[in-house]
Amino acid sequence: MNPVTSAVTVRAPAKINLHLGVGAPRPDGFHPLTTVYHAVGLCDDVTATLADGWGVSMALPDWIDADDLPADGENIVDRAATLLAAHHGIGVTGLVSVVKAIPVAGGMAGGSADAAAALVALDRVWDLRTSDEDLLAIAAQLGSDVPFALVGGTAVGTGRGELVEPVVDHGTWWWVVVPSEEGLSTPAVYRHFDEMFPDAAPEPCGADALLAALATRDPHRLADVLHNDLQLPAIDLRPDLGELIDRGQSLGALRGLVSGSGPTCVFLCESADHARSVAAALEQDHALVLVANGPVAGAHLVEYA
Ligand code: C5P
Repeated sequence: MNPVTSAVTVRAPAKINLHLGVGAPRPDGFHPLTTVYHAVGLCDDVTATLADGWGVSMALPDWIDADDLPADGENIVDRAATLLAAHHGIGVTGLVSVVKAIPVAGGMAGGSADAAAALVALDRVWDLRTSDEDLLAIAAQLGSDVPFALVGGTAVGTGRGELVEPVVDHGTWWWVVVPSEEGLSTPAVYRHFDEMFPDAAPEPCGADALLAALATRDPHRLADVLHNDLQLPAIDLRPDLGELIDRGQSLGALRGLVSGSGPTCVFLCESADHARSVAAALEQDHALVLVANGPVAGAHLVEYA
């Protein structure tokens, strides 16, 4: 017999989009996507502990402002717990603590990582043994990029982003990550895409060139084909992002890119050393500059008691 697991810590990664093709909005308001998700080693840790009541707490690094988090009760972790418990017809109990290291409202799917990690952690402490298929379906209800946070690695996303197919990626890609002090709303960036591109094709542009470049393991080849259809709308709303990308590229980064809907910007570099030197130069003007590599694993257990 397995001993009862009373506490579990699950780690889930931030994502960037190596390719983000966006089509004209569907009748339900969501945009059809062809995207290549890439999990990078910037992770939130979610610990679920058995308890009679229910509570969620957040531990933030000093560079994340508590005011940027959703108010109590609206957190995606609460929604994850409610959906998982409802799927099994049980009540929501336990204490969940989230140690955040992924920028909030940054276009790196930090909330989605927390939701994915909470699903995996609660599944374990509640001893539910939910199938992967059901976990992915619950994740898709929580947000378009929550399924990817479960899968991790590098993966093609279609539909509204929730249909995820892993791809082979034997490269190790080094990134400088520059979060912004001010968040940018994802719906606002998609709305601005619609305003700027009222004649967008229904079908998003495909990712064949990106997938071919990944297979070469050559960062110069990858740099040439990184693509984000939300970059122009994000920069139009926040011109400072364009200036940041120009600056990073002038400092030697192979390519700068808005991450997802922004405002975090990422810079592809040749190697770990190269990333550290670009990061050190960007630190002259930016309070927070991080270095991360990918691909890394999706939501996975790191500790249990
Ligand atoms: O699915 P998620 O909750 O992450 O989406 C947040 C918002 O981003 C949506 O309400 C929608 O405004 C926008 N969105 C979109 N098309 C997508 C994904 C997100 O328009 N494929």
